[in-house]
Amino acid sequence: MTGKIIGTGSYVPARIVTNDELAQIVDTSDEWIAGRTGIRQRRIAVEESTSYMAAEAAKRALENAGTDAEELELILVGTTSGDHCFPSVACEVQAALGAGNAVAYDVSAACSGFLFAMDTLWAFIRAGVYKTGLVIGADCLSKLTDWRDRSTCVLFGDGAGAAVMKAADSGLIQTVMGSDGNRWNVLSCVSRTNGSFADGKAPQLGFLHMDGQEVFKFAVKKVPECIHQVLEESDTDIEQVKYFVLHQANYRIVEAVAKRLKQPLDKFPMNMEYYGNTSAATVPILLDEMNREGRLKPGDRIMLSGFGAGLTWGAALLEW
Ligand code: UT7
Repeated sequence: MTGKIIGTGSYVPARIVTNDELAQIVDTSDEWIAGRTGIRQRRIAVEESTSYMAAEAAKRALENAGTDAEELELILVGTTSGDHCFPSVACEVQAALGAGNAVAYDVSAACSGFLFAMDTLWAFIRAGVYKTGLVIGADCLSKLTDWRDRSTCVLFGDGAGAAVMKAADSGLIQTVMGSDGNRWNVLSCVSRTNGSFADGKAPQLGFLHMDGQEVFKFAVKKVPECIHQVLEESDTDIEQVKYFVLHQANYRIVEAVAKRLKQPLDKFPMNMEYYGNTSAATVPILLDEMNREGRLKPGDRIMLSGFGAGLTWGAALLEW
């Protein structure tokens, strides 16, 4: 028994922010951003909250799967930008869906959040605890971005992606997840709730901080490594993999991974051009686009892989 993705959905805010628009706020240019990252525009939440985007993506995934919200036994949201410290985004999604029979909580693994959440649901399904669950990657990093810092504010966008997974005979084949807490400060965001009892200071807003080059080097090394590990553990030849659906942070990272894996770039779909890096949402948004475009056929082997703050990373091989 394994878990199969039977439906996908996604949501991005309507507001488009182009590179040229950002060049009016910070000292940057379309040429620099597109040339270094592949990003040309991103969607930024104006009215939308993280839980709203997550719930909209979830509704679309449930519809795509033909699954009623009441069938859900587990709702997991990979996110690091919930609207509240508590409750979880997952509980807010549960309410929005009317999924009264589900247990709901968030999984914190930054950009790897969707993969970590999916891996958790998969483990519950294999253990026979749950049969049907919903996994979401949702982030609104525009709220955590210092819009004066050109080295980070040009990279991210907001959005959510979701997948319904059900117990089945085929589906997820193998996963590998990893983390290295020693390198937590390479990419981090101070908590928004740092009011201090000791000095009586009011809570301050925390902004995302990143050593971009360190993350870049880590990603191009770790992603191929964990993909190779998944292939080895599942006794799969890399040529059997039809698509590599990778975290959409930077096209140069995707290119470097393709090169290290000795695989043609056309096996690596990309959409960061339109959405930027939506953190935990990149993989499920891309998967949903491919699903709705009819690019995924039953029996196709698809490799998902992500990396992010923690540091965290993961890869998952599945049969569509
Ligand atoms: O989900 C995971 C999230 N994080 C990532 O994926 C980040 C991974 N890292 C990257 O994608 C790349 O490291 C970046 C895109 C962040 C930066 O690219 P880079 O090729 O590593 O550039 P750099 O940091 O070495 O900066 C090169 C130059 C610097 O100027 P000097 O020192 O050479 O004069 C920066 O100050 O580019 C400058 N720079 C910019 N210039 C124009 C940095 N940001 C900008 C900008 N516009 N937005």
